[in-house]
Amino acid sequence: MERILLIGSGGREHALSSALLRSSSCEKLWVAPGNPGIARDAECIQLNVSDHLAVARFCLKNNVTLVVIGPEQPLAEGLSDALREENIDVFGPSQAAAQLESSKGFSKDFMARHHIPTAPYRRFTSAQHADALTYTAQHALPVVVKYDGLAAGKGVVVATTHDEARDAVDMMYDGVFGSDGIVIEGFLIGHEASVFAICDGRDMITLAPAQDHKRIGDGDTGKNTGGMGAYAPAPLVTEAHLATIRQKIVRPLLDGMREEGMPFIGCLFCGLMIDGDEVNVVEFNVRFGDPETQCVLSVLDADVAALFASAARGELDASTVRSTHVGFACNVVLASKGYPDSYAKGLPIIGITAAEIDPQVTVYHAGTSEQDGELLTNGGRVLGVTAAGDTLADAVGRAYRAVDKIEFHGKTYRKDIAAKAL
Ligand code: AMP
Ligand code: GLY
Repeated sequence: MERILLIGSGGREHALSSALLRSSSCEKLWVAPGNPGIARDAECIQLNVSDHLAVARFCLKNNVTLVVIGPEQPLAEGLSDALREENIDVFGPSQAAAQLESSKGFSKDFMARHHIPTAPYRRFTSAQHADALTYTAQHALPVVVKYDGLAAGKGVVVATTHDEARDAVDMMYDGVFGSDGIVIEGFLIGHEASVFAICDGRDMITLAPAQDHKRIGDGDTGKNTGGMGAYAPAPLVTEAHLATIRQKIVRPLLDGMREEGMPFIGCLFCGLMIDGDEVNVVEFNVRFGDPETQCVLSVLDADVAALFASAARGELDASTVRSTHVGFACNVVLASKGYPDSYAKGLPIIGITAAEIDPQVTVYHAGTSEQDGELLTNGGRVLGVTAAGDTLADAVGRAYRAVDKIEFHGKTYRKDIAAKAL
């Protein structure tokens, strides 16, 4: 039986906490810091996750057998390494392995070394501003300019003119994100999909493919966001694609990372561009995606606690997974008016109980707070309304009927989640 500490506070962690609580191997779950939705079922605790010793002390004192790390920041800061030094099992990669996400240059160089299909690129250091400008000016259009370090999803510009590309390069060298270099790469055509692989350093289990909706507006218009909705399984990713992804992407990644002394343990998020039979990597993340996880876990029938624990211990146990593809799921994000720019907080939310009258619907909290028993908005992405269904159309219908029952001032959402697949 596992005594689990889950780190994080978003919709992804609410979905992870629900899946862990459904697991027969989960004896006890703490979530740090969690959110009001998570607190309905799990014990939320205040821990400074940047204070690695404090997290380790909590684990040792409470006989925690497994730590699951949701977001990228603590992984990039080396929380896993600090806990492993105290012999605590962690589902999440080391700081070295987390560079697959925290440095786009590292990730592209790694893919090149191991022949993992991705867009052609060049990497420029923080001292090569002028070289980057010269290179960009000669590059075919569209050209993609990426900041090398973590930039909260804002570090990528797909430029359709050379002026736009130059401005993007200048902006990234301006220091708004930090002082890492940049990557300039070719534009990939196709449809994007997210595939998560549960990895134990050697082996993998791929979960149902999902599709995110990154732009704020219907029809993929407007600004990029953290993700405005998702569905799974995404039919655009076939069984043949999944086999290619395992053979040509995840397998060489696992072998390469192990050979280079940084075995990958945790959830590998493959951000992919699918064009006919061809699959290219747009990016790797070293954690579950948000909001894709809400759907992927909804269609997963598994003892997730045992699955993650086996991966953390380097003994991935496929028997913990009964099925990765049970029906369909759709997640619609309800955001604050103004997101992804500035928005108000502290607005009352009503209707969640009514929305959850449908037993197939779960409302995951992403940015909420509670004051004197009243639920308030507390972030850009506020709630993730997730529905399961026998067909994708059924899941989508249930999700949107539930969306209509929830109200808060300025409630903003996309009306076309999964429309492409229907
Ligand atoms: P990333 O943070 O690398 O996933 O980039 C953010 C978004 O920019 C992706 O989800 C894609 O929509 C787009 N993007 C990034 N790289 C490329 C590329 N090489 N070709 C086309 N689109 C891209
Ligand atoms: N939904 C995309 C991400 O989690 O990065």
